[in-house]
Amino acid sequence: MNGQEEWHNSPIGVFDSGVGGLTVAREIMRQLPNERIVYFGDTARVPYGNKSKETVTRYSGQIVRFLETQQVKAIVVACNTASAYALEDLEKESDIPMIGVVKPGARAALATTANKKIGVVGTEATISSGIYSRYIEEHDADVSVVGKACPLFVPLVEEGLWEDPVTDEIARRYLTELIDSGIDTLILGCTHYPMLRSTVGKIMGEGVTLVNPAYETARELKALLSERGLESEHRPGLGTELYRFFVSDAADKFQRFANSILPYGILSAKVIRIDEY
Ligand code: DGL
Repeated sequence: MNGQEEWHNSPIGVFDSGVGGLTVAREIMRQLPNERIVYFGDTARVPYGNKSKETVTRYSGQIVRFLETQQVKAIVVACNTASAYALEDLEKESDIPMIGVVKPGARAALATTANKKIGVVGTEATISSGIYSRYIEEHDADVSVVGKACPLFVPLVEEGLWEDPVTDEIARRYLTELIDSGIDTLILGCTHYPMLRSTVGKIMGEGVTLVNPAYETARELKALLSERGLESEHRPGLGTELYRFFVSDAADKFQRFANSILPYGILSAKVIRIDEY
């Protein structure tokens, strides 16, 4: 482990059920360019969005234990489903500061809504956990929240159909009831959905502001690191690996997706046995 002096130069651990959390890693790269990142994508066990709380919590615990071996100074639970189901338990088990994507997204939506009607789209697990509604309604009892699970969005994004007539049609079916409910703010409560931003924005219309939890999470991570004196002082020099990627399966496929959305090409992703942690 690093000495206390260098601890702030340690990497940030970011994890997700697969490739989706790269939308969060991308925001961290943009907003915190000095920070090193160790990313883990659970590509062997994705999706999490249709699994039980117990399973998602067990998987997430293994990932946190793996990230601990990488001497990370903070952990970002980039997956909405894992943030909804597992974050509370993970925080009890580890001393490493952690941040999920749900609260930052919910706080931004609260700050955005004028008519106090917020919509949230996410996986079946995230929506049925009720976590966004609970958090928002606890902070402002006058706000109402309408949730809608959009399970087909994840495979559409992974197939690269970000702007496509098929995606338009499916999005229209999912989103009609949110339009009818009169929301003025919509949380994109799943890692993959920022990739559908323009499709969703077009269907919801100009009167609805889209909130991207990935962006908000990177902002809050910055504040957390600064409060705790954990900000890296300077960008690591040439020859130091700034970003490292680990997956539980199919590294090539992961690399291809990563290279289609990240600002830097990734050289490799290493496969590890996550069930051994
Ligand atoms: N990463 C998940 C989320 O944000 C979406 C993919 C999955 O279901 O695992 O909820």
